Amino acid sequence: MSQATAIAHPNIALIKYWGKRDLPLNLPAVPSLSLTLGPWCSRTTVTWGVERDEVHLDGRPASDKAARRVLAFLARVDPDRPRVRVHSANDFPTAAGLASSASGFAALALAADRAAGHGRSLEALSVLARQGSGSACRSLWGGFVVWQLGERADGTDSHGLPLAPEDHWDLSMVVAVVHAGPKAVGSTEGMERSRLTSPLYPGWVERGPGLVAEATAAVERRDLQALGELMEQSTFEMHAAMQTARPPLLYWQAGTVAALHTVFDLRARGIGAWATMDAGPQVKVLCASSDAEAVKQALSQVADRVEILHPGGPARVEQP
Ligand code: PMV
Repeated sequence: MSQATAIAHPNIALIKYWGKRDLPLNLPAVPSLSLTLGPWCSRTTVTWGVERDEVHLDGRPASDKAARRVLAFLARVDPDRPRVRVHSANDFPTAAGLASSASGFAALALAADRAAGHGRSLEALSVLARQGSGSACRSLWGGFVVWQLGERADGTDSHGLPLAPEDHWDLSMVVAVVHAGPKAVGSTEGMERSRLTSPLYPGWVERGPGLVAEATAAVERRDLQALGELMEQSTFEMHAAMQTARPPLLYWQAGTVAALHTVFDLRARGIGAWATMDAGPQVKVLCASSDAEAVKQALSQVADRVEILHPGGPARVEQP
């Protein structure tokens, strides 16, 4: 038996990934830029060479569907794989709308690789993690990460690249949980529906590289206003493509709109805060850490639960 445990943090896209140019390989139609966030994390232990395949998520046996997804992923790590046991747990609520699949597949790729003794590079692990869940390819690194499009048909050049480490900039992401409940339409189905039916999708794809280039420059010069405005631009363009799909994809709830107005009101009062939403109703607000408490106070009026998160570090192997 050989075993390893790895830890990875979730990430939130500041410039969004929405749309695939290759479905089985999870190759994106647009590049994206994210911020890895701590202290929340996924912790995953992989043990190769056990008697039978077993997958446990958050202390319970995984559903058949989740177990199949994990085992199919592990067959990519090692095509001749022996039987395997996986234990994975998140220390954060999945209802918080932070992609637990991102931290989960990043931790799984790292733990599985190290337990098997392969010792792949972070780029190679990112290529693997991408095939579990696209956004997972950004969770191998801390701080700001760019997921580059790549050109190769096999996807070996479509992976994350570190842009700036977690201590580059003292920012906070304030997460407002405005609506609990399961996701209406999963990201893969939502992306395909947008691609196939939204009249705004071609424009979304065309503008993606420019948004990432501008946001990269804003991160490098620590320009919060420029980065915040670009994040909102990307967010609203993505949601416009979702909402103009047939049938429309409306991930927002009433609480989403209330939280957005709260953020706009904060800005009118001179507090630098900008909002983003993913394939769900929760609102995440980017601000300077010195403003995070004021942002949390304001959002607490409209949200069930509000958490302040900070830039997190890279995925790492936990020493036994
Ligand atoms: O990685 P997936 O398939 O869960 O897709 C993530 C899509 C968004 O969260 C909406 C945007 C992003 O870039 O993370």
